[in-house]
Amino acid sequence: MRLSLNPAIHSIFGTGQEDGRMGLIPGPELWEDFDTVLLQGYTIVRSMRWKQMVLRITIYPLEDELHNVAGAVGLFRDVTESERLEKTRREYVANVSHELHTPVSALRALSETLIDNMVPDEETKKRYYGHMLHETVRLSRLIDDLLTLSRLQSGAVSTQREVCHINRIMSDVADRYTVLAGEKSIEFSFSPLPDDLTIISSADLVEQVLIILLDNAIKYTLPDGSIKLFASLDDNNIKVSVSDTGIGISPDDLPHIFERFYKADKAHATQGTGLGLAIAFEIIQRLGEQIYVESQPGKGSTFTFTLTRESAAT
Ligand SMILES: Nc1ncnc2c1ncn2[C@@H]1O[C@H](COP(=O)(O)OP(=O)(O)OP(=O)(O)O)[C@@H](O)[C@H]1O
Ligand SMILES: [Mg+2]
Repeated sequence: MRLSLNPAIHSIFGTGQEDGRMGLIPGPELWEDFDTVLLQGYTIVRSMRWKQMVLRITIYPLEDELHNVAGAVGLFRDVTESERLEKTRREYVANVSHELHTPVSALRALSETLIDNMVPDEETKKRYYGHMLHETVRLSRLIDDLLTLSRLQSGAVSTQREVCHINRIMSDVADRYTVLAGEKSIEFSFSPLPDDLTIISSADLVEQVLIILLDNAIKYTLPDGSIKLFASLDDNNIKVSVSDTGIGISPDDLPHIFERFYKADKAHATQGTGLGLAIAFEIIQRLGEQIYVESQPGKGSTFTFTLTRESAAT
């Protein structure tokens, strides 16, 4: 039987020089499939791993005018990337379902107990209503975060740029966080840039990133620690940093913290779903800027993002 081959097959399997069938496609099971197709006349689809690749192979029969099997054609598709995307999608759906499940189950259990009149005293009832409110707030925050993230990823968030005064954005946010840090006995300091510099950016989005970073700084810093918000100038860039003396992030976790749902605390004992930094990362991408982090476990973390100066500004 005649064998013709698309040369692309050599680049998939890294073959070429060797003789014989196995020298062309080093998969005995595939050659068996070819034989079966030729003999039985039906189509076979097979997935196989080859080194780092995932291949989807379809082998189907070729018929002559008299409907006899005259040959077989094998179609080799490299589906590595689509498999990877599918895995990411599955993990995402599993994460979302898990995060929605927890507050919804709590709400269900609490409301069932109340409806069944299992709570006789008013005091306990009130506490249960408090828990229900807490779970509802958690649920709506989660949904807000998911919507924000998907709007950012689909490009539906306006990144309309305007001239903004960076010191003003920072000091507005700093006012609020001085109070919040104080409530947890954390020292908060804010150092504006010496000059009133302007950037071309979206004030709302920059503020959102600052809030995400400062929320984390407060959450992951113990009482008596300190948090600094400051900016520095570097050529055409302004760098804005949030630095804390908190628990820090281990080198193992550090490369993952901008991923959706990633939490260093695997037990999810701290509040939050692990979407904050994914949102910050997406915003910074949209703005065409950069964000990075330095951290040492037990010492603290510094998150920095860049902002491009309005070139005409003095
Ligand atoms: N300043 C920080 N210090 C120590 N760890 C941090 C800090 N910021 C982030 N992390 C780690 O990175 C993880 C991801 O942060 P992210 O803001 O995305 O999620 P989260 O704060 O856990 O939840 P969410 O922001 O959705 O409420 C956190 O769970 C935490 O482990
Ligand atoms: Mg967070």
